[in-house]
Amino acid sequence: MAVIPVELAGRSYEVRVGPGLLADVAGQCGLLLRKSRVPVVTDANVARHWRGPVDASLTAAGFEPRWLVLEPGESTKSWAVLQLLVDWLLAEEVERGDHVLALGGGVIGDLVGFAAAILKRGCGFVQLPTTLLAQVDSSVGGKTAINTAAGKNLVGAFHQPSLVLADRDTLTTLPPREMRAGYAEVIKYGILGDPAFFAWCEANGPDVLAGHGEAQEYAVTQSVVAKARIVAEDERETTGARALLNLGHTFGHALEAQTGFSERLLHGEGVALGMVLAARYSARRGYISDGDAARVAAAIDAAGLPSEVAALGLNVGGRALAAHMLHDKKMDAGTLPFVLLRGIGEAFLDRAVSLDDVGEFLDEELQTH
Ligand SMILES: NC(=O)c1ccc[n+]([C@@H]2O[C@H](COP(=O)([O-])OP(=O)(O)OC[C@H]3O[C@@H](n4cnc5c(N)ncnc54)[C@H](O)[C@@H]3O)[C@@H](O)[C@H]2O)c1
Repeated sequence: MAVIPVELAGRSYEVRVGPGLLADVAGQCGLLLRKSRVPVVTDANVARHWRGPVDASLTAAGFEPRWLVLEPGESTKSWAVLQLLVDWLLAEEVERGDHVLALGGGVIGDLVGFAAAILKRGCGFVQLPTTLLAQVDSSVGGKTAINTAAGKNLVGAFHQPSLVLADRDTLTTLPPREMRAGYAEVIKYGILGDPAFFAWCEANGPDVLAGHGEAQEYAVTQSVVAKARIVAEDERETTGARALLNLGHTFGHALEAQTGFSERLLHGEGVALGMVLAARYSARRGYISDGDAARVAAAIDAAGLPSEVAALGLNVGGRALAAHMLHDKKMDAGTLPFVLLRGIGEAFLDRAVSLDDVGEFLDEELQTH
């Protein structure tokens, strides 16, 4: 098992990565569980596979697990389900010093984290991430949110978990498409800040996607180390360091908006294609070579992720795609900071990007590739 500390003044916690963590969830949580009743929130897909080991561990240790099983899917991150969850936690008499267990992917983690942030002005929670995306990204760093009619993740809070248990066994039941989507966020850490890890991904990506346990554990550990370092440096995304984690997200968000945030393009797939576009746009601006941009595209393509915007069959112009970026929540006083590359492993924030130029670039991408 690897243990990665997330160092935050007064709010430090550990991310543990390894096999068998859910089967030992009671032991892993230790004194975080103060009362016999333990609230566990999950979704129906995850419950089918992973309720058993969590239940068994808690029950064997003398706890009484209390389950709330929600509908799977992005629509669960809503006001309505938040209300249902908070009312349920209140009915369960959860107190500030208690911990709620969030067993699932980013949807469950974001929702439960936000409920924990506002319940009695903040109670504890433990992340038990069961998707690759949640293990390498959403469970670490304390961003919590729900979606509203106006857009995704527009209402939320920074609220750090007390512990994260990334059990690699859970990846054995993850659908392959979800695995690939999460892998986009793994490669992202290499592209934005670690050329050696990017090279490792080029060589070992197929093993990670094929379910090779040790390769998966290495990929998750390296990703969490990278995220923990950035979060410790810039917990609330104020200095710009944490903003680098948005590599690929601005282009990706426009593509997700164009496809209606639907199954047509999963978030990780949008990020993957967004990273290719960010690399090609960096080459267009003369920051990196065409060869480096092609290397990024090849790594994304080799993972079975989308690398050509034209292949999406969007039936939209580049300017209309770029217009979605005006509603990006990273918009800051009329400018949209873009994460671009000065090399593989060297991301930086460019605050002087013109959306007209991006629109022209996207027009070319839609036609020429
Ligand atoms: N807070 C953050 O920093 C952050 C970062 C990135 C993404 N996110 C959010 O994360 C969400 C996406 O997370 P996700 O990709 O994990 O999606 P998800 O939670 O919807 O999970 C994807 C699908 O896989 C199923 N599933 C989960 N674990 C499984 C398992 N082990 N076996 C079988 N099926 C399983 C789920 O039921 C769901 O159908 C988005 O809402 C996004 O906004 C948050």
